[in-house]
Amino acid sequence: MESTTSLYNEIVRLALERNFFFPSSEIYSDAPAGFYEYGPLAVSMKNKYIEVWRRELIRRDEMVEIDGSQIMPKRVFVASGHLESFTDPITRCKSCNAIFRADKLLEEVLGFPVPERLATEDMDKLILEHNVVCPNCKGKLDKVSKFNMMFRVNVGVSGDECYLRPETCQSIFVDFLRIYKTMRKKLPFAIAQYGKSFRNEISPRQSLIRLREFYQAEIEVFFNPKKANDFPKAREYEDFILRLKPLNEDKILKVSCKESVETGLISSMLVAYYLALIQRFYQIVGIDMERFRLRQLSDEERAFYAKEAWDVEVLTSIGWIELVACNNRTDYDLSGHSRVSGQDLSVYDDGEKIIPHVFELSMGVDRSLLCILEHSYVKESERTVLKLPPMLAPVQVAVFPLVTKDGLDKKAKEVYESLKLDFDTVYDDSGSIGRRYRRQDEIGTPFCVTIDYQTMEDETVTIRDRDTMNQERIAIKDLKRYLMEKLRY
Ligand code: GLY
Repeated sequence: MESTTSLYNEIVRLALERNFFFPSSEIYSDAPAGFYEYGPLAVSMKNKYIEVWRRELIRRDEMVEIDGSQIMPKRVFVASGHLESFTDPITRCKSCNAIFRADKLLEEVLGFPVPERLATEDMDKLILEHNVVCPNCKGKLDKVSKFNMMFRVNVGVSGDECYLRPETCQSIFVDFLRIYKTMRKKLPFAIAQYGKSFRNEISPRQSLIRLREFYQAEIEVFFNPKKANDFPKAREYEDFILRLKPLNEDKILKVSCKESVETGLISSMLVAYYLALIQRFYQIVGIDMERFRLRQLSDEERAFYAKEAWDVEVLTSIGWIELVACNNRTDYDLSGHSRVSGQDLSVYDDGEKIIPHVFELSMGVDRSLLCILEHSYVKESERTVLKLPPMLAPVQVAVFPLVTKDGLDKKAKEVYESLKLDFDTVYDDSGSIGRRYRRQDEIGTPFCVTIDYQTMEDETVTIRDRDTMNQERIAIKDLKRYLMEKLRY
């Protein structure tokens, strides 16, 4: 593992050169920061990543998935509290007018974490005590104020006040009762949603890490808090070892789900079970578990709606990155929407009328992909190779003719045509065969099929494994089955 930012820079270079991702509207000099495009390779990888999320979480846990609107009316965000509380602390330089996120600026200058929810007066005090000045011009900083991060949109000719959703989950809460009734669900059950969210970040940074428009994959589990320990699904996971970093602990503790609940670290078996599912998911998609932790958040760090919170964090060359916020949101959301909309969102659970509580797994998809790229990136003496789990590889198989004569290219194109509907397949006949292998290694293609002179005699090809670089000879008629087996996980 490299421990400098150079590794992150190499991933960004690879992303640009090989068309994973790149800045949005890049041919315009006034394009705002914090918006990125996904090129063909990242789209392919993201689609596969989401399919693994569906398989390992939605289908495994028998959740349901929805796809809600990105624009929602003001009252949704009055109910959710975002209009009042979804703010970042900012300070302006009195000389050059540059604006900074106060907590981040203080953190950089003072060298210790400053919670974003620290009172603005306390941030003012820190600025004064430590004589913090504008990093650009050394000018004096103004008092810290709150900046709401939602994008307002005016809908229709009358310009009704609406907002781009800052988290996908609000439509899950608003739709909860309809889904509960029409899908004939009983508590506990979960609704999932994957899609775009929007936050007017003050300092977007580090490519996919802090974006203004980004993908979330969110899961909201609705449950009766009195029964959070009476949760049969969790039995299978009682001995599952979680990698927890509790408050006031410097190191990662390896604790079973059962023990973490018995010792009071985690509030219930329901919460422990979903933390186990998400840890298991990241192991499957290629995150090195030695660089994975579930970090317990302090009162100051937790979102305004959360009573208990664990962040999935992954160590990269630019530090620990938060990938999933795992929040116990209590009945905060459904109560808020009941109050503001006037609709009763309570349900009956075994004869008891309750407003369900919510535990959520709120995943940042873009940053997860970036971390997977970094954890898969390996530099060997002769080559750079992206050792992605095969099921996430943007290109699954590359087909090469050894040379472009004597009918080998025609045969290779036939093989390519026979595979392209079932697999993400490319055909490449330019440059030496060695260079072609290297190009595929760099983007993580797990298999390369080569058509050579022997193919013309016996209808067999070589198939090269990305990680071992070993080659096997197999019959063309068996290729599809071979690849399907290898790409299954
Ligand atoms: N739904 C929680 C979040 O977006 O962070």
